[in-house]
Amino acid sequence: MKKIGFRLLGAMLATAFSLAASAADGVNLARAEEIVSGRCFLCHGLEGESASPVFPRLAGQHGDYIAKQLADFKSGKRNSDTMKPQAEELTPAEMKALGAFFQAKVVGPRVGRDQELLAVGKYVFNRGNQFSGLPACSTCHGAKGLGTPQLPRLAGQHPRYIEDQLKQFNKRERTNDNAVMHTIASKLSELETHAVAEYIATLD
Ligand code: HEC
Ligand code: HEC
Repeated sequence: MKKIGFRLLGAMLATAFSLAASAADGVNLARAEEIVSGRCFLCHGLEGESASPVFPRLAGQHGDYIAKQLADFKSGKRNSDTMKPQAEELTPAEMKALGAFFQAKVVGPRVGRDQELLAVGKYVFNRGNQFSGLPACSTCHGAKGLGTPQLPRLAGQHPRYIEDQLKQFNKRERTNDNAVMHTIASKLSELETHAVAEYIATLD
């Protein structure tokens, strides 16, 4: 009985805290949920899990990074025929709310199959490549690929999306904030790109 009482109290406190937090930030999570279940879910899933490998997972991604990308899609700074119409009508407050909504979601990592390929990816991620001057991904994205509010989380992302973005950065087809990642992507070989993307997907 006591245990249940404590749990209930804990849940009530947590609710009170999250309400206080969202009120303080002015984040309207109910509005975010409405937008997500209205259209975003078609590609990114209701939980940001993105069942199809061509669409990036948003679950666990930093809210500030999500809001920034949405603003860039809207202004055209980040070029995307798919995302531009999705972001066009969003207000800055809705972008912030969508960021907070997806950041709170959790999806697990995937299980990698090709151990030899994963070992190459792990090496590149943690050590870079001293022969080509490639820095380790972990120096910026973190040892577990969790990122920071300014730097995207990579952990658990679909390998196909990672590979696609690295290719876009290399050709500067990813048009926003590409200076750093262009230099990095231009140093990656095909094998390294493929291996590091497979490894990133296994990070939790
Ligand atoms: C028709 C499919 C589709 C719909 C609907 C859609 N997206 Fe996307 N989204 C994409 C694709 C494809 C990309 C990758 C963009 C690219 O590289 O061109 C993307 C990228 C993103 C990114 C950038 C992720 C990253 O890691 O940089 C965010 C954030 C995002 N979408 C949020 C949303 C939100 C919020 C909605 C609803 C308002 C939404 N999307 C609706 C397909 C979709
Ligand atoms: C010097 C710092 C730095 C290093 C090292 C670095 N990155 Fe990045 N990376 C960034 C920044 C900054 C961004 C965000 C660009 C933006 O704001 O749009 C980014 C973005 C990305 C994205 C886009 C994520 C998304 O959700 O769309 C991918 C993929 C990525 N990096 C992969 C890698 C890989 C793989 C490596 C190692 C080979 C690496 N990065 C090394 C700084 C770095």
